[in-house]
Amino acid sequence: MDRTRIIVIANQKGGVGKTTTAINLGTALAAVGKQILVIDVDPQGNASTGLGITKPQRSVSIYEVITGHAPLAEAIVESQIPGLHVVPATPDLAGAEMELVGVPRRSFRLRDALDGYHTQIAEPSTQSGSTALSTERSKLMVYDYILIDCPPSLNLLTINAMTAADGMLVPLQCEFFALEGLSQLLRTIDLVRGSLNPQLEIQGVVLTMFDKRNNLSEQVAEDVRKHLGEKVYQTIIPRNVRISEAPSHGLPALLYDVKSAGSQAYIKLAGELIQRERSRKAA
Ligand SMILES: Nc1ncnc2c1ncn2[C@@H]1O[C@H](COP(=O)(O)OP(=O)(O)OP(=O)(O)O)[C@@H](O)[C@H]1O
Ligand SMILES: [Mg+2]
Repeated sequence: MDRTRIIVIANQKGGVGKTTTAINLGTALAAVGKQILVIDVDPQGNASTGLGITKPQRSVSIYEVITGHAPLAEAIVESQIPGLHVVPATPDLAGAEMELVGVPRRSFRLRDALDGYHTQIAEPSTQSGSTALSTERSKLMVYDYILIDCPPSLNLLTINAMTAADGMLVPLQCEFFALEGLSQLLRTIDLVRGSLNPQLEIQGVVLTMFDKRNNLSEQVAEDVRKHLGEKVYQTIIPRNVRISEAPSHGLPALLYDVKSAGSQAYIKLAGELIQRERSRKAA
């Protein structure tokens, strides 16, 4: 079994399609048989809601994990999508940053929790009675991909996600200000690489909300490719009303309307990501 790949989906700009990408890329990867864990690191909890995770299912959330009150395994819940599990978020998470002031390894909270989880899988015999219970709840799955959905900020939560990840996927909305803020994001990646996580790489950049009736979209896409070259995925996510309707039904677009242009684009993106991961491994 290959090692789990941890991909953080980040961009400090709000509303660029981070959560939509976490939900639908995750679902598309699960649909081809990959085992997926989506970790919601945004106090807004949009990824949790969009994946149909109810309030009672959030009794243990990423907040408890990051603040050290629960192991990761206890926060994992099953979604309605076979092979896709979720670590949900609650509004409590907004307070985590303050609570972690002065706490050692505060940028490593998520990474340490993930390491603990993987150790638990590797050494199941060392579990105590109570961990065995949580093992039962989560079924301690070995995931192919862990996707982390970030808030629209370069705060401690995003830093935790970047510190825990192997690669970063950056959604860029096809609008005039798409590249604005990108240099700050790239600087933050460099900082994280320099001090917290040397292995962090840009896994890819995905253009979202492309409007083919709008010449600007075309121009922006071209511009982004000029700047970021082959990091940019060939697959472009179109602006599609079915994508925006799906979350209110607690469903990924892929379950809400698989034939929609938006769903089809995320299926293509998943294929391209798997391909890219394969050639990365071969290299
Ligand atoms: N391809 C698309 N077509 C149409 N609507 C979209 C598309 N992608 C995202 N949306 C809608 O745009 C809004 C913002 O998307 P999303 O929540 O994924 O962005 P985000 O980057 O996670 O936002 P935030 O920064 O607040 O976390 C949502 O209402 C979503 O349904
Ligand atoms: Mg979001």
